[in-house]
Amino acid sequence: MLGRENCITYSTASSSLLPIDRERIAMTLSSRISGFYNLSLEERLAELIRRAGLTDEEARALSGAAGLDAAQADHMIENVIGLHALPLGVALNFQVNGRDVLVPMAIEEPSVVAGASFMAKLARSGGGFHAHTSAPEMIAQIQILDAPDLPSARLAILEQKADLLAEAAEIDPVLKKLGGGPRDLEVRLISESPIGPFLVVHLIYDVRDAMGANALNTAAERLAPRLAALSGGRVHLRILSNLADRRLARARCTIPLQELAFDDFSAEEVRDGIIAAWAFAAADPYRAATHNKGIMNGVDAVVIATGNDWRAVEAGAHAYAARNGRYTSLSAWGRDAQGNLVGSLEMPLAVGIVGGATRVHPTARAALKLMGVSSASELAEIIVSVGLAQNLAALRALATEGIQRGHMTLHARQVAIAAGAEGEWIERLARRLVEEKTVRIDRAVEILTAWRSGAET
Ligand code: MEV
Repeated sequence: MLGRENCITYSTASSSLLPIDRERIAMTLSSRISGFYNLSLEERLAELIRRAGLTDEEARALSGAAGLDAAQADHMIENVIGLHALPLGVALNFQVNGRDVLVPMAIEEPSVVAGASFMAKLARSGGGFHAHTSAPEMIAQIQILDAPDLPSARLAILEQKADLLAEAAEIDPVLKKLGGGPRDLEVRLISESPIGPFLVVHLIYDVRDAMGANALNTAAERLAPRLAALSGGRVHLRILSNLADRRLARARCTIPLQELAFDDFSAEEVRDGIIAAWAFAAADPYRAATHNKGIMNGVDAVVIATGNDWRAVEAGAHAYAARNGRYTSLSAWGRDAQGNLVGSLEMPLAVGIVGGATRVHPTARAALKLMGVSSASELAEIIVSVGLAQNLAALRALATEGIQRGHMTLHARQVAIAAGAEGEWIERLARRLVEEKTVRIDRAVEILTAWRSGAET
């Protein structure tokens, strides 16, 4: 179904990479790179350097030749013993809000990078992805227990809202200077819980280009004593909410009807098959979980490549999918008046381009540079577009030839490597496994052993 994926690597042999001419780069930056998958790893990287104006150091960070080292990692988490690598690929053909963008994706699963690239190509012929975000507003929660009278405590806090917001505005002068800071304060009365009723204050905080966890948690902790005094209760938890439903990213695309036909499948069959597949997810949580997992294949890969917190994004996405009391699809598919396929995706996306690993991790920094993003919103717009593309790739395959055909070829390569094949033998063994329709490690080892002993050629 889909071609070889676009993995990149780097060796010192190509360190004499082309000088950077930024004007030429801007002119030539296109996310369409014909035959990219046929290039060697070094050639792919050189192509990216040429197009995105990466430095040698950035290129080395993307390739895995340099990047995060154990000494840096030792400052990031506890009990460090080393690093854990993932393949890093580049999705091609993406056009988001009229701008071509090369999308780095860190993921171990075959077909994802190729699927996103192919669907981005189809979307491109319908004008690409149109994406936007709401303001980067996050929610910090402060739980108040043992207030003597909850309705009066609620009002006592709300009466001081302006003061509380003014106090919160002074907590982070850097954020304030950048135009961020507190935006609103709400008080919720949770009337039923295993410990009875209590209050929750929501501090709404604009975190600009950060993911925002630190700013939010600090603000929540700082306001806590005043909230306790105002309510007459005691503050318990002070932590951000990952249900970032005020920080939404949305993308839509149109796939021209004629682009959908392939092999023996008519365009109408493919379009209607995709819509019926989406309807399944819209109506059934069992299917919705898998459908949304397909979206997250694309989303997480970019979130990870850019050093963002993918657990936060995952938590937000699935909580948002269940916001109306029943878990459902994050995306929607239908047809327009001309019969074209139209798709959209809306989800919370708490990602940043400053702070945390996005700045510390050299590969994440180079990944951001490759994309040429200048704000967290722009990054979220690309990520949500990749999620939509990935969803389309899965639905198109599922609604037509099934997912296994394309998967098998790529999976067979991993099985061949796991069986001990090296170099050109990987491809050869993978082909043989697919031909035999037995992509299993025991069979791979058997064939390899026979080849090695000369019993078979
Ligand atoms: C596999 O990683 C993702 C899919 O299961 C998504 C889907 O079913 O929509 C193919």
